[in-house]
Amino acid sequence: MALSSRKPINIEDYRQLANKRLPRMVFDYLDGGADNEVSLRHNRTALDSIRLRPKRLIDVSKRRMDTELFGKRLAAPLAIAPTGLNGIFWPKGDLALARAAAKFNIPFILSSASNASIEEVASCCNGDKWFQLYVIHRRLAKQLVERALNAGYSTLVLTTDVAVNGLRERDLRNGFGLPLRYTPRVVLDGCLHPRWSLNLLRQGVPQLANFKSADAQDTEVQAALLARQMDASFDWEALEQLRELWPHTLLIKGIIDPTDAARCIESGADGVVLSNHGGRQLDSCQSPIETLQQTISTINEPVLIDSGFRRGTDIVKAIAMGAQGVLLGRALLYALAADGQSGVEHALELIISEIDRTLANLGCPSIDELNSSFVQS
Ligand SMILES: Cc1cc2nc3c(=O)[nH]c(=O)nc-3n(C[C@H](O)[C@H](O)[C@H](O)COP(=O)(O)O)c2cc1C
Repeated sequence: MALSSRKPINIEDYRQLANKRLPRMVFDYLDGGADNEVSLRHNRTALDSIRLRPKRLIDVSKRRMDTELFGKRLAAPLAIAPTGLNGIFWPKGDLALARAAAKFNIPFILSSASNASIEEVASCCNGDKWFQLYVIHRRLAKQLVERALNAGYSTLVLTTDVAVNGLRERDLRNGFGLPLRYTPRVVLDGCLHPRWSLNLLRQGVPQLANFKSADAQDTEVQAALLARQMDASFDWEALEQLRELWPHTLLIKGIIDPTDAARCIESGADGVVLSNHGGRQLDSCQSPIETLQQTISTINEPVLIDSGFRRGTDIVKAIAMGAQGVLLGRALLYALAADGQSGVEHALELIISEIDRTLANLGCPSIDELNSSFVQS
């Protein structure tokens, strides 16, 4: 679909476009949060409440935002967050995101719950690829880790904030879930969004590609898959066992408490991703930006962050407060839903130009020179 109306000028414009293009139940799955959506709203309030403190009379005629992360040079301190069911927003959505990331020289993180398989994404384009692990069953997790290793993923990201699935009440009201049930309401919603429905008819309902090849004889694994619940017994000891399986960079995602961050490092992790899952899991959760500075002073390893990031200024704030990178979740999914890969690329261009403008007006010529003197929280 080519965008016919005015070209979006920011991420909120893409959110409005996604809202128009997607059936209500799909938009709500993308946009919604758990319970009262307090965490979801608070992620934005917490970022907005931080003020930037510019320095004047600095030569900012040349600016750079490339940076190094885990020994690799990135065009900007950004990565595409792992998100499940990307195929429901745009046909082959995982591939569109991976290709856009490769073009912009930032990592793409493939979700365990992707619609394209680990191998398909690995071979779709060059570019640094990370794999996000959900532990549904320990044997299945081991298989996924081995597949990611064989397919050449550089980094494993273990998600720890889904002990049980958060209840997103918008999904419950809309009857959204897998497998899709064709209730009269769902069918009507589809008819009102014919372009989206046509794509779905052409490609078929997206499947959880990584789980299709799970050993059908392994009844325990099959039962765990059917239950669609995580292994809630996964603990620190299990993390140490996982560390043994993965020889490359290991990050732990979903950390909020700085003492947990320290324990992740003691257990062998190479860094953490501060995240409250974009407000989709625990409601009334602290926002990761609120625990960033304490985490930075607790561990020496890289701290990445996500949840609520929509603007270049948000990213500059987090980097100034000590984060080494920001994962973009919904910001790029809105653009994916609006215009596929071109939408994602344009959204990245918008965010990168926002970062550039912010650096200039902040009096900081290089993103690597940002520090806490540029923010007042
Ligand atoms: C539609 C959707 C699906 C998601 N699926 C996953 C997932 O499969 N694995 C995971 O670790 N996080 C998942 N997340 C959380 C993101 O990785 C990230 O933490 C979150 O989107 C950040 O918040 P933001 O969307 O406000 O930027 C998902 C988020 C969204 C919006």
